[in-house]
Amino acid sequence: MSAKTGTISLGGNAVDMPVKSGTIGPDVIDIGKLYAQTGAFTYDPGFTSTASCESAITYIDGDEGVLLHRGFPIDQLAEQGDFLETCYLLLYGELPTAAQKADFDYRVTRHTMVHEQMARFFQGFRRDAHPMAVMVAAVGALAAFYHDSTDISDEKQRMIASMRMIAKVPTLAAMAYKYTIGQPFVYPKNSLDYTSNFLNMCFAVPCEDYKINPVLSRALDRIFILHADHEQNASTSTVRLAGSSGANPFACIAAGIACLWGPAHGGANEAALKMLSEIGHVDRIPEFVKKAKDKNDPFRLMGFGHRVYKNYDPRAKIMQKTCHEVLAELGVKDEPLLEVAIELERIALSDEYFIEKKLYPNVDFYSGITLKAMGFPTSMFTVLFAVARTVGWIAQWKEMIEDPTQKIGRPRQLYTGAAPRDYVPVGKR
Ligand code: SDX
Repeated sequence: MSAKTGTISLGGNAVDMPVKSGTIGPDVIDIGKLYAQTGAFTYDPGFTSTASCESAITYIDGDEGVLLHRGFPIDQLAEQGDFLETCYLLLYGELPTAAQKADFDYRVTRHTMVHEQMARFFQGFRRDAHPMAVMVAAVGALAAFYHDSTDISDEKQRMIASMRMIAKVPTLAAMAYKYTIGQPFVYPKNSLDYTSNFLNMCFAVPCEDYKINPVLSRALDRIFILHADHEQNASTSTVRLAGSSGANPFACIAAGIACLWGPAHGGANEAALKMLSEIGHVDRIPEFVKKAKDKNDPFRLMGFGHRVYKNYDPRAKIMQKTCHEVLAELGVKDEPLLEVAIELERIALSDEYFIEKKLYPNVDFYSGITLKAMGFPTSMFTVLFAVARTVGWIAQWKEMIEDPTQKIGRPRQLYTGAAPRDYVPVGKR
């Protein structure tokens, strides 16, 4: 079958570009030689039509609302597996056998402690620091404690750094939370599973044992699965670009955490809950929907819309179900924020503006209500997103480093600044 090509015609000069097809999804036009052949760049600031890499990890069909990790649908992974199984899948490409899973769980569990001096590292922060500010610093600082897994050319070190990141980020996240509420740090417990251990590190206190609620632990584990990876989103692209220069994996993940913090991205769960609280009552919903539709008003419905999903985010459906499970388990009845959320969703999904622009609830819409009910403060919501996304960032970073065609990412630009001009001495300005 002849190779597919696309033709770009510029000023009467037509050049053929190879077209590549993936397993599923849109073809790509390989424009690597475009500048050399035409003297022009492509221009796509938000990367709305640009594939930055080849990847075998995650696939999203935005029109159909489908999310696959290594080919497995997110709802099946979330309902039938646990978070560390999804971590194994993202890292190794296949679901683990029972023996492989037991070994992987054992290896992760035994990397959960952090160097004791990191506790002193936290002392430098104000107690009212946002936990995401602490996480950006603490995760980047891992490179100052684990020099023996920063040589990215060494496969063994790459895997050790990956395991350390998956294992230690929850410990640092719990420390960031404890520090902001003035409680002592709680050490990891190897007898607990990954997510129960995280809950224990967050909510246990020295004066009494913390009783793990299996329903809540399972719910949070599922929430971690929903947030594990999502193709080339802003923070993953940040990790890939940072990694393309050869920066160590700890620094790359810290860069990803910094990007995730933005309210248009991972910060949306925190912003969505604040928005629901600000709306406060179903009667005020029309006023906020009107603001969201007003072109002159920067306000947007947080937790709505998505660059890729032009259908319901499959994660949002599972998140909504998990939200109801958690509220029922905790005996939370008539949660006003949930009432507002359900009514806001109903109104938005029947509103012409949202229908025309294909705006649906995304993964962040129901997560805030769930995490608040579980006892996490709003400031910790994006930290929890970072805990889950660490495996996605690491898997994508490893895939990039191990790609033989990998080179440093260095985009070009459309220059609209001043034309060349001569220096003017200060006396003549
Ligand atoms: C995440 O990329 C990922 O995969 C991210 C993520 C992941 O797992 O990594 O899925 C996690 O970041 C989910 C998204 C969380 N963000 C929010 O919930 C914030 C609110 N949403 C918007 O900021 C927005 O929808 C984005 C940022 C998510 C997507 O922005 P796009 O793709 O750039 O879309 P756009 O801004 O061009 O919007 C298209 C139109 C615009 O109107 P027009 O200029 O065409 O007239 O839709 C409007 C927007 O004004 N619009 C909204 C809206 N989102 C888009 N209007 C009101 N409320 C909104 N939420």
